[in-house]
Amino acid sequence: MVAGAKGAPVTVEAVQVPDPGPGEALVAVQACGVCHTDLHYREGRINDQFPFLLGHEAAGVVEAVGDGVDAVAPGDFVILNWRAVCGRCRACRRGKPWYCFDTHNASQSVRRSDGTALSAALGIGAFAEKTLVHSGQCTKVNPAIAPEIAGLLGCGVMAGFGAAINTGGVTRGDSVAVIGCGGVGDAAIAGARLAGATTIIGIDLDPGKLRWATAFGATHTVNAREADVIDAIRACTGGFGADVVIDAVGRPETWRQAFFARDLAGTVVLVGVPAPEAMVPDIPLLKFFGRGGALKSSWYGDCLPERDFPMLVELHLQGRLPLEKFVSETITLDEVETAFTKMERGEVLRSVVLLPAPS
Ligand SMILES: NC(=O)c1ccc[n+]([C@@H]2O[C@H](COP(=O)([O-])OP(=O)(O)OC[C@H]3O[C@@H](n4cnc5c(N)ncnc54)[C@H](O)[C@@H]3O)[C@@H](O)[C@H]2O)c1
Ligand SMILES: [Zn+2]
Ligand SMILES: [Zn+2]
Repeated sequence: MVAGAKGAPVTVEAVQVPDPGPGEALVAVQACGVCHTDLHYREGRINDQFPFLLGHEAAGVVEAVGDGVDAVAPGDFVILNWRAVCGRCRACRRGKPWYCFDTHNASQSVRRSDGTALSAALGIGAFAEKTLVHSGQCTKVNPAIAPEIAGLLGCGVMAGFGAAINTGGVTRGDSVAVIGCGGVGDAAIAGARLAGATTIIGIDLDPGKLRWATAFGATHTVNAREADVIDAIRACTGGFGADVVIDAVGRPETWRQAFFARDLAGTVVLVGVPAPEAMVPDIPLLKFFGRGGALKSSWYGDCLPERDFPMLVELHLQGRLPLEKFVSETITLDEVETAFTKMERGEVLRSVVLLPAPS
């Protein structure tokens, strides 16, 4: 599934996938979710390194590995991750590998049939029957989970869940507000619920999204078209604001709402990815000081795939994390463009591409 030029519809084409070199793994993709970040790539909002091989929320089976790979083997059921930590950079060495500054991807590229190298979305490129990744991007999990559910842990669900639990540090008794109740925001709501937050406020422009937010555990919902978001969050939290406000949209106006809708010394977590031209609005510096607390970004939910993916799979298999609710539909590869339209219209939480089993 190739995005050839900025804004142009994506197309299905034959690609050449190299044999795995040292440290690499060839994966037969079984399922790959359509994330808003894929659409950001196709619109040129991430970078301009077209053509892209899109798709990065994927699960599949390792088919072959290159020299020196011992963490995974052919036949392993894996979720692909886009932050394979290096273990050697200054963040890793200081015991904070979720910030790793030198994450690993495959060294070789998947190519178009004319030989042009494709830039793999988030170093994965899994809207394809097979893809090549660094072996560290393969996290082995319990194969009892359905691939279309497992794949979602590879990006949006992990990012949202981790934004609440890891970055926001949500714990029992907290009040949490989540602005933007798409796949990422709803995962933040599910995470906040699992962690024991007692007030969970879902905010969206779309009434259908607010119904989903309730299904994932929101105790209150606010339609941002009908109410002042800051006032509404304060009204749900005794007039004070929420302990943690998660911006799962990433626009100046939503970040500003998050900034003012948290309690004093509260935390803002930015997990939505802003457009390059987005600017922080005019906020007096004294407000940053006077309101205190923490203003954080959440890269991939500050997750550690090896720690978090197997745990979330087990919570799902035990019936404690309803990941199946994120899968609105399963589709074929040639329906990704339609899925982008459905995503923009708010009709789906996640469309998931199912890839045919290798013959
Ligand atoms: N930080 C990360 O590691 C990471 C990982 C995955 C995705 N993301 C980003 O997270 C964001 C959300 O992704 P998604 O897949 O959930 O997208 P999505 O399109 O499914 O959801 C976005 C939601 O925000 C709502 N929304 C838009 N403008 C709003 C506003 N002004 N106020 C309230 N709600 C508003 C939409 O109605 C929609 O429900 C995207 O920017 C995506 O790129 C970040
Ligand atoms: Zn590192
Ligand atoms: Zn994603």
